[in-house]
Amino acid sequence: MARADGYTTFVSSGFGKKLATTLGLPQPVPLRRYVPGGPLVDGPVLVGGHADTPAVTALRAGLTAAGATLTEVVPDGARLGGVVVDLTAAETPADLESLRATLAPALKRLGRCARVVVVGRRPGTSGSVAQQAARRALEGVTRSVGKELRAGATANLVLVTEGSEGAALGTVLFLLSGRSAYVDGQVFRVGEGGAVDAPADAEHPLAGKVAVVTGAARGIGADIARTIARDGATVVCVDIPAAGASLADVANEVGGTALQVDVTATDAGARIAEHARTRHGGLDLVVHNAGITRDKLLANTDEDRWDSVLQVNLLSILRMNEALLAKDGLRDGGRMVLVSSIAGIAGNRGQSSYAASKAGVIGLVDGYAADRALRRRGITVNAVAPGFIETEMTAKIPFATREVGRRLNSLSQGGLPVDVAETIAYFAADAQAAVTGNVVRVCGQSLLGA
Ligand SMILES: NC(=O)c1ccc[n+]([C@@H]2O[C@H](COP(=O)([O-])OP(=O)(O)OC[C@H]3O[C@@H](n4cnc5c(N)ncnc54)[C@H](O)[C@@H]3O)[C@@H](O)[C@H]2O)c1
Repeated sequence: MARADGYTTFVSSGFGKKLATTLGLPQPVPLRRYVPGGPLVDGPVLVGGHADTPAVTALRAGLTAAGATLTEVVPDGARLGGVVVDLTAAETPADLESLRATLAPALKRLGRCARVVVVGRRPGTSGSVAQQAARRALEGVTRSVGKELRAGATANLVLVTEGSEGAALGTVLFLLSGRSAYVDGQVFRVGEGGAVDAPADAEHPLAGKVAVVTGAARGIGADIARTIARDGATVVCVDIPAAGASLADVANEVGGTALQVDVTATDAGARIAEHARTRHGGLDLVVHNAGITRDKLLANTDEDRWDSVLQVNLLSILRMNEALLAKDGLRDGGRMVLVSSIAGIAGNRGQSSYAASKAGVIGLVDGYAADRALRRRGITVNAVAPGFIETEMTAKIPFATREVGRRLNSLSQGGLPVDVAETIAYFAADAQAAVTGNVVRVCGQSLLGA
């Protein structure tokens, strides 16, 4: 698997740290990443907020069951591993004072790679205008705190639906854990649903699931396969025939099967569904990760170049989903995760075709998440939008451009493929039954398109 870049390793050493401080250079720290068997979070978690609410009651119970040590006051001496602030009861902007009063002292006592998680309500259409303002204000605070934090700490916002407070636990646990190392300044929306029982085997939340990952022969796709296999899934690894050798290596490594299919083939969806059914008895998770770039200014983009990007990154997903979302494709309660990009949110010079395809992917998520038939079947559809991720693709970017891309985020470093994979594994778990229609950027709170 890829590792942190050389500069991040250098400024973590005594001499490098001193030099970076003297010259005022960015000081990224190696991020805390998930290690099976490790603690949820390093240090006690302060839980506070505005009044005692069903959300905070559900969270206290869930966090304690997950092994976290909770505190209501900033402890003397010890550094906090995380802060969870519940503002679901905020009715007017004046109530936001509870958020300030909880966070201000806690932020001074955060440990390395600590987590700030703000919990609020989804802004609805029925509340008062003051209530809408209070709810929306949480986004501004959380994103600002994310930009103020240092030493690998992150801040994210979870918006819960009234009456479904228990459904947010899986998201809060993900955000506190090392799995969310490169997820910063994001808003997670949790819909209607009950609390989901903890998996029988907490270290293998995807045990018994059959998953398909496209573009699995290398890069981010290979790490998605590794990560969901580590979490217990049986993985069908899909890639083009030309990548057959490395595809077989990845499939063998994760104990899954390899399927050579070009995702743009008209029968790709049917072949994938049939392979999953006949070899593994069904299909629970589809990760549409295969993607290409053919960068050129739009003025110089011909029809072939435009079409190839749209075909691989967007149209293939629509076509494959006719089979994958049919009754004998994804099982009821299944999960689909798409891979977008921050280029699809911010746009990028020379990437109009790529940005069109990746913005289109977000449109697919909106469309599928609103589909009542899929909701009735318990199928969720979400996307990750990676920022600068250390892969073979980004290693080819000229040094100066690469350094800018890598540092222009709150964590001052690129993410690793495993960071994208961990967010996909989070979406895939049974605990996220109420999480659909989300696009989560895995970008270290990149300044691009923020
Ligand atoms: N690397 C980044 O920084 C970054 C940032 C944002 C989004 N992404 C997205 O993440 C995904 C993975 O990117 P990556 O960096 O690992 O790229 P990569 O080029 O290393 O890997 C892509 C894989 O997809 C496969 N593929 C391409 N066309 C295919 C087709 N027609 N049928 C089947 N497989 C096909 C390739 O053979 C390859 O194995 C892509 O969708 C990409 O757009 C990457």
